[in-house]
Amino acid sequence: PSFWVVIPAAGVGSRMRADRPKQYLPLNGRCLIEHTLDCFLDQPGLSGLVVCLSPLDEWWPVLACATDSRITRADGGDERADSVLNGLQALTSLGADERDWVLVHDAARPNLTLSDLQILLITLQNDSVGGLLAVPVRDTLKLAGPDGRVSSTPDRSLFWQAYTPQMFRLGALRTALSDALVAGAVITDEASAMEWAGHSPRLVEGRADNIKVTRPEDLEFLRRR
Ligand code: CTP
Ligand code: MG
Repeated sequence: PSFWVVIPAAGVGSRMRADRPKQYLPLNGRCLIEHTLDCFLDQPGLSGLVVCLSPLDEWWPVLACATDSRITRADGGDERADSVLNGLQALTSLGADERDWVLVHDAARPNLTLSDLQILLITLQNDSVGGLLAVPVRDTLKLAGPDGRVSSTPDRSLFWQAYTPQMFRLGALRTALSDALVAGAVITDEASAMEWAGHSPRLVEGRADNIKVTRPEDLEFLRRR
């Protein structure tokens, strides 16, 4: 199916404690974000891709992909959800239809495989809502009490980790995100906005190593491979 992509990349990467936003740290000779974009640029059906960046970002313009005609730069916002909303607005300016599929994927998730991307697209292409790549929780979970001791052990089989890409219809996603933000809901991914709007996104099992680089050891892990 044909699809659009929004890449939120306007974060500062405070938990990485690096000298630059984490999407510009090197991995195998190129920036993280270049690896992230590769997978989408290689997939037939891509209608266009918007990267949401800080207006002050001076790292992006020097990358080779900054001049790729399929990629458009948009401004990010205060929170990830604000960045994504700006990206959706930019897609409309590019001619995207309200019914078109949009895939939202973290800039800091450089290890997405083409096969996971294709599984997501094929599984959801006729779905009424859309969904997300996710991974069943592997470890036993502990609910923490206020004193730092275990309060209980929930049934692990019910829990999944939410990954990206997350794939929804442009119009439905924009409505869900903006209504949730106006209502002051805490929105950490697109699926939670869709849930807030009363939809049930589909979980599509993906690879566990499609990790988001969040702390220094995450990048060390990817560099060792
Ligand atoms: N992001 C964004 N706009 C924001 C905040 C985050 O586009 N206002 C993007 C980040 O660039 C990242 C993705 O959302 O690609 C996931 O966010 P996160 O891992 O939290 O990245 P940062 O916010 O950069 O890191 P930190 O929270 O450690 O500062
Ligand atoms: Mg953040």
